[in-house]
Amino acid sequence: MNTNLTTTTLRACSEADTDHIAAAFSQHIPGNTTVALTGTLGAGKTRFVQGVAVALGARAEHVTSPTFVICNQYPVKKHIYHLDAYRITDEDEFFELGVDEMFLSDGYVFIEWAEKFKQMLPRELLSLTINVVSQHGRDFHFRGTSRYQESIVRLRSTCQDLLA
Ligand SMILES: Nc1ncnc2c1ncn2[C@@H]1O[C@H](COP(=O)(O)OP(=O)(O)OP(=O)(O)O)[C@@H](O)[C@H]1O
Ligand SMILES: [Mg+2]
Repeated sequence: MNTNLTTTTLRACSEADTDHIAAAFSQHIPGNTTVALTGTLGAGKTRFVQGVAVALGARAEHVTSPTFVICNQYPVKKHIYHLDAYRITDEDEFFELGVDEMFLSDGYVFIEWAEKFKQMLPRELLSLTINVVSQHGRDFHFRGTSRYQESIVRLRSTCQDLLA
């Protein structure tokens, strides 16, 4: 087990707070990052990716859930791949999406339900677990491998008012 993980938890009380965290994320988290998104149905995984994409230049109405199409892409300032592994049943199917090439790209690869394919994710990884705390309240728990140590510290200081 990798014990060298940097973590921080930020609490959003509204979708505007979520957008604030997402904008800070887009500012501080470097490209070539894969984000494993975990959280129950409706926790806000897709909504967070929407916030990041909008911060990087996308229009909110263009950012939709990839549940049925499996993979969406947004050619914004940092290219975004947005995958949903909910309906994917085996590792071959996951691999055939072309994930290995995505992992090498300069942009972000967001994967909802990534915990299903833990073994296939890059070694340097950012995990984001979203917990529902109230109707509009969400806890965003970030955990990064060593590469993300400094960027998580910067994320935390930009979002100091939202520290849980
Ligand atoms: N602070 C908040 N942050 C994010 N979403 C919020 C917040 N408050 C309310 N919501 C609502 O929660 C819902 C989150 O839905 P979303 O599709 O992002 O969930 P998801 O985790 O991607 O679910 P699924 O596993 O079904 O794909 C949206 O309806 C959004 O409007
Ligand atoms: Mg979703």
